[in-house]
Amino acid sequence: MSTSPTRRRRALALLVATVALAATACAAHAPQDSLKPKGPESRYIDARFFPVFWIAVVVFVGVVAAALYCVVRFREREGYEAPRQIHGSLKLEITWAILPAILMLGVGVFSVIGVFHLYRNPSGPRITFQPASASAPAQVSGDVLEVHVIGHRWWWEFDYPNLGSGFDNLDQKPGESLVTAGELHIPAGKMVHLTITSNEPIGSPEGTGPGVEHNFWVPSLAGKIYAVPGHLTHLNLEADSKQITDGHSITYSGQCSEYCGLSHANMRFKVVAQSPADFAAWVANQQGPAKAWSAADQFSDPTAYAGYQLFNGGGGCATCHMVTGTPAAGRVGPNLTHLQARNVFAGAIFALNDNNLRVWLRNPQAAKPGANMRIRKLTEDEITRLIAYLDTLK
Ligand code: CUA
Repeated sequence: MSTSPTRRRRALALLVATVALAATACAAHAPQDSLKPKGPESRYIDARFFPVFWIAVVVFVGVVAAALYCVVRFREREGYEAPRQIHGSLKLEITWAILPAILMLGVGVFSVIGVFHLYRNPSGPRITFQPASASAPAQVSGDVLEVHVIGHRWWWEFDYPNLGSGFDNLDQKPGESLVTAGELHIPAGKMVHLTITSNEPIGSPEGTGPGVEHNFWVPSLAGKIYAVPGHLTHLNLEADSKQITDGHSITYSGQCSEYCGLSHANMRFKVVAQSPADFAAWVANQQGPAKAWSAADQFSDPTAYAGYQLFNGGGGCATCHMVTGTPAAGRVGPNLTHLQARNVFAGAIFALNDNNLRVWLRNPQAAKPGANMRIRKLTEDEITRLIAYLDTLK
């Protein structure tokens, strides 16, 4: 066999391509690994994935081995004579039609049962919240947490019906839900029943309406499900409660996994699995309104007060954002009433801190391509005031 330069180059290209392909499958600390399930729903999927995978491996190896054997054994040789031509072997034909049919039927039956299991409406009393009293701290009771999930370009809104007083963008009910964005808080060890859709809220710069298709995915906790404009889909997820104690939550990463435009890759979110007591404390804090500012505050906290004025006035922020307990009643962008209770913002692509808020407020579109937050150019002083105000939104 000659080793011409062309052939060597081809071999090298093939080697590089193979290594590149293998390398893309490697990540030391991948936070979005569907092969490391951390809850009963994802474990259910995992338990069905591997049998199918190994059956596929056996079939693949068998077919390739048989093909290679035939290629080598029956290759053209010196003194070659064309084999006897036949019309086929009934026995063989039946065997290789029935075997795969049985295999596919088995896999299919398990898959269909799995689909019904994963998308069932979980039974059990829905989780309700009891505010703190003189005798007991705030707590939750019930087995199933209902959460409304709305995909927007390009961030996720999470509304908890019956747990707050915010405007629910899924059922368009005012004063009914706890409303937050970017971070889905859940009690570990409890089933969470998600009702999912996609829309662009009233007054959106891209036009109020059904929005575009997104896909909700937390690889560690559940499978994927589409967020379809004008349609409701459901997904269940549950996070393991072991290793989670009071004060020690576990955060899982999620991601929009359907291409939805410019910042599709920046449409991420977090799922924070907490102990029931921590979750109750989080709900209790989320239910409270933000501080209602008065003229006296301009002396005690002048920078934040100036920021509050700017937020509700010349900055234009209140047109799109809601801060419960203040005049800000916008429904377009994320509800900011308890911004500082979050660890991330802007589609969960930034850690929430003053530096990142400054980068964001200087130019949202530079920080996140296509961002719908269209603001005028703010001065550095204005940004300082706004951040001082945002820092008060605990
Ligand atoms: Cu939303 Cu991709």
